[in-house]
Amino acid sequence: MSIEINGLTKHYGATRAVDGISLVLPDEVRVLVLIGPSGGGKSTLLRLLGGLEIPTAGRIRMNGTDLPVTEEDLREFRRRNGFLFQSFNLFPHLSALENIVLPLVKVHGWTRDEAIARAGEVVARFGMADHVKKMPSELSGGQQQRIALARAMAHGPDLLLLDEPTSALDPEMKAEVLDIVAELCEAGQRIILSTHEMGFARGCADEVIFLANGQLVESGRGAALFDSPQTEVVRTFLGRVMKW
Ligand SMILES: Nc1ncnc2c1ncn2[C@@H]1O[C@H](COP(=O)(O)OP(=O)(O)O)[C@@H](O)[C@H]1O
Ligand SMILES: [Mg+2]
Repeated sequence: MSIEINGLTKHYGATRAVDGISLVLPDEVRVLVLIGPSGGGKSTLLRLLGGLEIPTAGRIRMNGTDLPVTEEDLREFRRRNGFLFQSFNLFPHLSALENIVLPLVKVHGWTRDEAIARAGEVVARFGMADHVKKMPSELSGGQQQRIALARAMAHGPDLLLLDEPTSALDPEMKAEVLDIVAELCEAGQRIILSTHEMGFARGCADEVIFLANGQLVESGRGAALFDSPQTEVVRTFLGRVMKW
């Protein structure tokens, strides 16, 4: 995806969540990873890029087109994307299958038969075919996140936005979700991901950007940012989080 961000800013009252970010990424960058300390602006930037928030100032161009700035046009843009957040946000009163089927029907206008067929494909791909009749409360955290990922992917999104998809999971469950994300990366899915999993970021990213205090401190192609960080801030952060 080619992305051009210019002076992008999002303020919440006095908080400068995103504070004047500019960045140009060529089309070859399929997997963009956001890293940095908590509160640095990763989620806000991800939400701006996915059309979930309207910037306070600045603009985003994606694949040559400006992102819309009205709520109505943004809704249309948002529908083309898929989202997955840190905590499991499945509908608790719907089965795993229905969690995938319902948005396909209600948001994307598919027939119920089409939606059920498609849901069957994605759950099989994500190793969840045996669990589709269960309610979210009957699934482990890793299984819930796999269903949430299946839901985010089911309509064939142009862009998949993942906000710390594994940070609420135990190590083993982390791995089972990251395996699927890695497979999607391999398959060429366009992904923007925020994560604290540095090994995963290093292995999967085409481009990594480091955010702190709402600003882009450093960016690097592939593993470059990990292998030779240019700033003291990034060196210190990586030294700390990759120590153990
Ligand atoms: N909806 C919001 N209302 C008020 N402040 C917010 C909101 N979202 C984020 N913030 C603030 O913006 C800053 C950046 O947050 P966030 O984008 O969530 O960072 P990160 O994802 O890197 O932890 C933080 O200070 C956070 O408290
Ligand atoms: Mg966040």
